[in-house]
Amino acid sequence: MMTSSLRETILQLFRETPNGFVSGAQISKTLGVSRTAVWKQIEALRELGYKIEAVPSRGYHLLEAPDLLSAEELRAGLDDSLIGSDIRVFEETDSTNAQAMVLGDTGAPEGLVVVADRQTAGKGRLGRRWLSPGGVNLYVSILLRPTVLPLEASQLTFLSAVAVCRTVAEVSGLQPTVKWPNDILLNGRKMAGLLNEMSSETDRVNHVVLGIGVNLNMPADQIPTQLRYPATSLAIEAGHPVSRLGFARSLLTQVDLLYRDYLENGARPVLSAWEAYCDWTGTMIEVDCQNLTIRGIMTGLDNDGALLVRTATGVERILAGDVRPVGS
Ligand code: BTN
Repeated sequence: MMTSSLRETILQLFRETPNGFVSGAQISKTLGVSRTAVWKQIEALRELGYKIEAVPSRGYHLLEAPDLLSAEELRAGLDDSLIGSDIRVFEETDSTNAQAMVLGDTGAPEGLVVVADRQTAGKGRLGRRWLSPGGVNLYVSILLRPTVLPLEASQLTFLSAVAVCRTVAEVSGLQPTVKWPNDILLNGRKMAGLLNEMSSETDRVNHVVLGIGVNLNMPADQIPTQLRYPATSLAIEAGHPVSRLGFARSLLTQVDLLYRDYLENGARPVLSAWEAYCDWTGTMIEVDCQNLTIRGIMTGLDNDGALLVRTATGVERILAGDVRPVGS
């Protein structure tokens, strides 16, 4: 057994034991290793930040688990989930999207999740950088292999957006809103961004990577003020820190539920759920598209995720651009 699976099994024993005490003998029997090997694994867990006390004649007792994004902890509670069937965690990587794309190219299964504590070249939309300091936020990429046309794959951005919104509401009780095509806002400030990447042929998708960056515990002084759009974090808006692990687990569960629904019922339920999170529907907006600005009433999303705007001359279908409410 690999050492990380030994630790995973020990953590599982702690989780399954009603009084929280697991004896060294019990662990050694379950794992089929010596008591010294058990002690070494307990030490390794302590080094990772787990607070474990050793009580004579009762055994080991897990007092506190750190807010670590370990594959073991993330997988706990995702038993039947397609999303997270394989989880790779990096302390540092260039970009979880880049890693997931490479793994997708080399045949990794649908549902693979790549998570990093920090990114050195986090990718944002339109070639921008995504600020990715360690220890505070969530940077996750999910590999999917849907049997849809390449044109339809952009619908999946809305799936990620709805999953993030539902998770934010579940863990904090706050009500986020969305900004087309890929921003999640709290009190009008951006707290999460989405970047999908795809490998495809003319008429089929090889794989899609859903990239999700969520500002969770980033303090105000770590957020640059010169951003294109004002930013925030969930902790700033909620007034208290949030568990990265708890958020990540519930996000993966939401993506799993929404993706199953998408495969079964198509994109419309996801697109409608997204429209319900958008408080600019029915209001006057402006969209900067390449070299022109379109002004009109936002009416919703077309079936492929294009933004529908009713202008003085008819309904425009917008495929890319930056949206803002008129007057701001
Ligand atoms: C944006 O709003 O510009 C999109 C930001 C997407 C950032 C996430 S963080 C996880 C994943 N890996 C990346 O390199 N980018 C996405």
